[in-house]
Amino acid sequence: MNRAWSLPNAADAAHYPPQACFEAGERNHHIANTAYPIAHQLTWKPYRVGPERYRSLVAQAFEGLDPLLLYVHIPFCEVRCAYCEYTVVGQDELHGTQQYLRRLHRELELYAGLLGSRRLAGFDIGGGTPSFLEPEQMAALMEKVREHFELPSEVVISTETTPRIAAARPDKLASFMQAGIRRISMGVQVIQPDLLKVLQRDGNGVEHHFRAVENIRAAGFTDFNVDLMYGFARQSLESWRATLEHALRLAPEAITLYRMRYKLTRISEQASQVALEGVRAQAELAKKLLADHGYLANPGKNTYSRIPGHPGTSDYITRRVVDGMPYLGLGLGAQSFSHTTVSYNEGAAGKNLRPYLRSVDAGELPLQDLYDLPREHMMAKMICVSFYFGEVDRSAFQAKFGLGIEQAYPEEVAFALERGLMSLTGDKLTMTELGARHFNGLVALFHAPSVKSYLLARDPEKAEDMHRHRRLALAVARRAS
Ligand SMILES: C[S@@+](CC[C@H](N)C(=O)[O-])C[C@H]1O[C@@H](n2cnc3c(N)ncnc32)[C@H](O)[C@@H]1O
Ligand code: SF4
Repeated sequence: MNRAWSLPNAADAAHYPPQACFEAGERNHHIANTAYPIAHQLTWKPYRVGPERYRSLVAQAFEGLDPLLLYVHIPFCEVRCAYCEYTVVGQDELHGTQQYLRRLHRELELYAGLLGSRRLAGFDIGGGTPSFLEPEQMAALMEKVREHFELPSEVVISTETTPRIAAARPDKLASFMQAGIRRISMGVQVIQPDLLKVLQRDGNGVEHHFRAVENIRAAGFTDFNVDLMYGFARQSLESWRATLEHALRLAPEAITLYRMRYKLTRISEQASQVALEGVRAQAELAKKLLADHGYLANPGKNTYSRIPGHPGTSDYITRRVVDGMPYLGLGLGAQSFSHTTVSYNEGAAGKNLRPYLRSVDAGELPLQDLYDLPREHMMAKMICVSFYFGEVDRSAFQAKFGLGIEQAYPEEVAFALERGLMSLTGDKLTMTELGARHFNGLVALFHAPSVKSYLLARDPEKAEDMHRHRRLALAVARRAS
């Protein structure tokens, strides 16, 4: 541990009973998920630090962290899909790719100057659509990263593409392989033409998929993932089955399932049309069908792998999830995470390039928000991320926080074990099938008190009301004490 956590405020010193928190997570299933925190304006704002502390706090927080993980964000896409939650710039800013890449290189230099060279244990180039870049742009980016970081040859570098680009531009795929990228993920999402149209993704339909896979294989990729999405309004169980069967025909090494997260997307108003029971049925159908074809995952894990002993994820994701390893995120809206801080780059909220470009040009770290967090939130964040794999590594938790998960959450762990939501398997606290079915309630058990209080007071049927939230949270805290 390189530095201490900040002290929790009163809202994070409260305690709420597990049963009530579990029910609040289930009730608010559209937001009680791994995308932590919730209601950051209430829950994290008190820990936000001013720009005058950016450099010194980042230097302290990352001091001695070696190896590290690196994420680089490419915020460009041919079109912007209506459901997308990622930082993607509008069509009017697409011409800015080269200017953006120049600033990305500069940002790398700024971090290298501040932290010195570090060894990388994982490196993802994500988006957006990284395959939007031309071969020489990707090669220059890779070269710049190698100039400033030690990148051991065993690290599997991973990137993403849409089907349309993979089908149309085999030269790009070959050049990515040439630049040292060894894993590629492609978003299939769904296959129904009418749903694709509603989602404004009709340019990436099935007509591109088989050619895309041929090109990916011809380029030499043997670590290939397909993303699918469920939990859309008007997505029937049968149409979901057809999507799954189609993905199986593409024969990737891994298939990742994303339940649609509506928060802050352009179709957020559709969340209320999606019932928890329907989503559970889709998840269960997927688990069964994928298992029948040799794609396996622990309960709660959303990446299914057909390669024995391989989690199906990139090294960057695997180390984040299993070890809670710190990462530096570069580029528009990217998130960084040390043992005590979390930050978001410019663009995380507004999604436009200008503030990011301006900060880098001024030689400043392009941060929009930097939070110096108490242990309660860092533990919650680690557990949320661990739940991507459906389990928490108890030794990794102990090493990060200096106490065991059972000590940190005695009532919550007992609640989860007694109700059969989790089980102890060796060094792992693992989600059971029942726990996976109640994912949203289970994850809420481990949120920090301020986030729990928000969920406890929130009525998903009604508009949000902060005063009501505070009043109800206080009442629950009083009843519990
Ligand atoms: C950065 S994006 C995809 C890469 C590539 N641009 C594509 O569309 O194929 C990574 C994945 O996140 C998932 N995703 C996007 N928006 C989401 C949302 N609102 N909720 C859950 N998953 C989402 C999609 O499955 C997508 O393939
Ligand atoms: S899903 Fe992919 S292509 Fe669509 S907007 Fe998001 S990142 Fe871009």
